[in-house]
Amino acid sequence: MRRIVCLQGSPRPMGNSASMASALCEAATGEGAQVTTFALNSLEYRGCQGCLLCKTRFEACVLKDGLTPVLEAVRHCDVLVLATPVYFGEVTAQLKAFIDRTYSFLTPDYAFNKDKRTRLAPGKTLCFVIAQGHPREDLFADIFPRYAYFFNWLGFSHSRLLRACKVYHLGDVQKREEVLEEARALGRSLAIGADSAGGRPGLGN
Ligand SMILES: Cc1cc2nc3c(=O)[nH]c(=O)nc-3n(C[C@H](O)[C@H](O)[C@H](O)COP(=O)(O)O)c2cc1C
Repeated sequence: MRRIVCLQGSPRPMGNSASMASALCEAATGEGAQVTTFALNSLEYRGCQGCLLCKTRFEACVLKDGLTPVLEAVRHCDVLVLATPVYFGEVTAQLKAFIDRTYSFLTPDYAFNKDKRTRLAPGKTLCFVIAQGHPREDLFADIFPRYAYFFNWLGFSHSRLLRACKVYHLGDVQKREEVLEEARALGRSLAIGADSAGGRPGLGN
């Protein structure tokens, strides 16, 4: 059974990115996947403190807060779904703080030995779910490849993208049946482990 962890990075629990992620996760559950969802905005946590204790004395992040169980779930997942709106050309602050904390998954040697970069088991899949208000697809297209590059270092050897442009108000994506259908198809494919089909190979060597 495939273990999928979904992080909702929007402060809007019924928003566009959360709706896309929900459609994906429901379809994955229907195919037998075990899905665990965390709404980041409901948790209390800090970003990485740069203490480097995860590189010197400990194997994991020493901060104990709302992200501790999230990081532990990600450690054991097969697929990580990161759902976010575009905020000022980026992921939300809630999601970025989580991403910075995944620094604790990198080994002390990550910069020098590309064969021993991660403390995570290899072969995981990253799935980005992005909602943006602007209709132009060429704008903010850099978000996904930038993070896929770094997550490849962490052991996410495949990455997938579900993206909706021109969704702004609450409920906008509910009127975009083609986006929701793409979400369901992606959820089914992730649930059965067809991660490389239609995906992109890992980036970032
Ligand atoms: C603080 C803030 C910043 C935003 N910045 C952008 C942006 O840079 N580009 C864009 O296309 N849309 C931007 N938007 C619009 C959101 O991306 C859009 O409303 C999206 O559908 C929200 O997703 P959600 O419903 O999952 O929260 C911004 C919205 C907010 C509230």
